[in-house]
Amino acid sequence: MRLALRITLAAGLAVGLVGAVSAQEIDTHARAPKHVEYEFEGPFGKYDRAALQRGYQVYKEVCAACHSLKQIAFRNLMDHGGPEFSEAQARALAAAAKVPAGPNDKGETHNDSGEVLTRSAVLADYFPAPFPNEEAARTANAGALPPDLSLMVKARHHGAAYVYSLLTSYGEKPPAGFAVAKGKYYNPYFAGWNIGMPQPVTNNGVTYSDGTKASIEQQAHDVVTFLAWAAEPKMEQRKQMGFAVLIFLLAFASVLGLAYKKVKGEYALK
Ligand code: HEC
Repeated sequence: MRLALRITLAAGLAVGLVGAVSAQEIDTHARAPKHVEYEFEGPFGKYDRAALQRGYQVYKEVCAACHSLKQIAFRNLMDHGGPEFSEAQARALAAAAKVPAGPNDKGETHNDSGEVLTRSAVLADYFPAPFPNEEAARTANAGALPPDLSLMVKARHHGAAYVYSLLTSYGEKPPAGFAVAKGKYYNPYFAGWNIGMPQPVTNNGVTYSDGTKASIEQQAHDVVTFLAWAAEPKMEQRKQMGFAVLIFLLAFASVLGLAYKKVKGEYALK
């Protein structure tokens, strides 16, 4: 009897241990982002203008179906240090977008079928959001909320590399023992590995107007450049200013040094 009890206990312990070990083997922490180099990094880094323009195209044709980018207005597309579209181009891009029209002369904001009344955007308009509210956004995305992308590259640790890794890492086979949750997708760069965003960027998913080949990596690189600019539109000005301040301080320090030498010399004469 005692032996039987011992065997049962030992067996129970073994099963428990094996269970604990196999549960530990799957560590669903986000994988460290891929190493990618961007033109805008470093003290003299600048945004790649062509990448910004292509990145806008990817945002507009792919991401904007689910994600808002509330901080950016169409006029910003012409800004110095940004995509630098011409005014005519920016006007055309705005005109191609629809924004809520606001109340008409009868005070209505929706038509009879309950749809929001819209008008073509103008330069002063901010980018329109794809969903009228959080509830609608979640309903369209199996409960998950696509966050606003305005500050995403700044908000996440190693944001540019993180978003790039996320976009380029769909389709891997999940490790044995890891179950992809219902309505979710496997992405090892996302904490928990179950992401509510279906693969957004696909090979040739867009046709670039400048003829660049639209591989997954190219589109990810371009849209991340665009989102990095959206998160810090004045980066180039900031870096230039920092450099000018540095030169000024160096010049000022050498003038001070010369003045000190002269004063010291005059006192020494006395
Ligand atoms: C079909 C809708 C859809 C499209 C299109 C889409 N996303 Fe998402 N995205 C989502 C949803 C839903 C989430 C929230 C995922 C979650 O919390 O599990 C998300 C989350 C994200 C996140 C946040 C991850 C985090 O750390 O929280 C980033 C970054 C992102 N998307 C970037 C993009 C980019 C860039 C594009 C365009 C290339 C894009 N998405 C296109 C639905 C979409």
